[in-house]
Amino acid sequence: MTRTVYVNGEYLPETEATVSIFDRGFLMADGVYEVTSVLDGKLIDFEGHAVRLERSLNELEMPAACSKEELLEIHRELVKRNEIVEGLVYLQITRGSDGDRDFVFPDPETTKPTIVLFTQNKPGLADNPAAKKGAKIISIEDIRWGRRDIKTVQLLYPSMGKMMAKKAGADDAWLIEDGYVTEGTSNNAYFVKNGKIVTRPLSNDILHGITRKAVLRMAEEAQMEVEERLFTIDEAKEADEAFTTSASAFVMPVVEIDGVALGDGTPGPIAKRLREIYLDESLKAAI
Ligand code: PDD
Repeated sequence: MTRTVYVNGEYLPETEATVSIFDRGFLMADGVYEVTSVLDGKLIDFEGHAVRLERSLNELEMPAACSKEELLEIHRELVKRNEIVEGLVYLQITRGSDGDRDFVFPDPETTKPTIVLFTQNKPGLADNPAAKKGAKIISIEDIRWGRRDIKTVQLLYPSMGKMMAKKAGADDAWLIEDGYVTEGTSNNAYFVKNGKIVTRPLSNDILHGITRKAVLRMAEEAQMEVEERLFTIDEAKEADEAFTTSASAFVMPVVEIDGVALGDGTPGPIAKRLREIYLDESLKAAI
């Protein structure tokens, strides 16, 4: 099926949607993005994604391409037109194109941002068999830039990390900087020891996950103990269980780190419970 996508104010068939070759997203990775999941035809935590988008744009002094209300409308329209029941909405805003290549930012008065949205149909996203099996991860060095709190489209290293994991027979990689785990290639990282959930605190070193925020709140509401602190990969390897969070995979149990099985090598009870709670609560609040 040819998708309907959104580009700079227009809904178009994906085959007819175009962006300039001079677009700074293409030439400089000068753009930000958001991924919002859709369950039951509704958007999960749209508000959280919209707030983080605004923050990313502000940090990069990029103008907003449209209002939050318009964004919501576009998301909903795309979900409707593409008949998405379970899937994702991808949104990207770049600094646009002033018709040439230049390191200096173009004048925002004369160069409009580029805004693109498209849907990805993912039936079975909630009931994902991968979550029942759990993920195997490897650890690799974190060589990304120092503003990982801004959700930019500079995803080459995360892509390389996924490829390294694949080559090693694993599903994903966790990134290590100065001896401590930062996060996963496209998710936030956690381990559980003696019932306590440990995850790295927020800073410029990691993306401030929208799912992370919701899951930590739900964990506390469920009387689970949460500690936000730096942790090493060795601590995670000795943990009872581990998991990741992201808008596209929700809560994903981790069953193996660098070849070491966690617990009995199957998804742990806390990860499974948090996944259930997250799916349940988010669906209730979906719009
Ligand atoms: N990735 N950390 C990184 C580096 C990420 O790329 C992501 C999300 C997260 C989790 O954030 P959230 O819970 O808001 O999705 C953490 C998205 C899903 C992606 O790139 O596809």
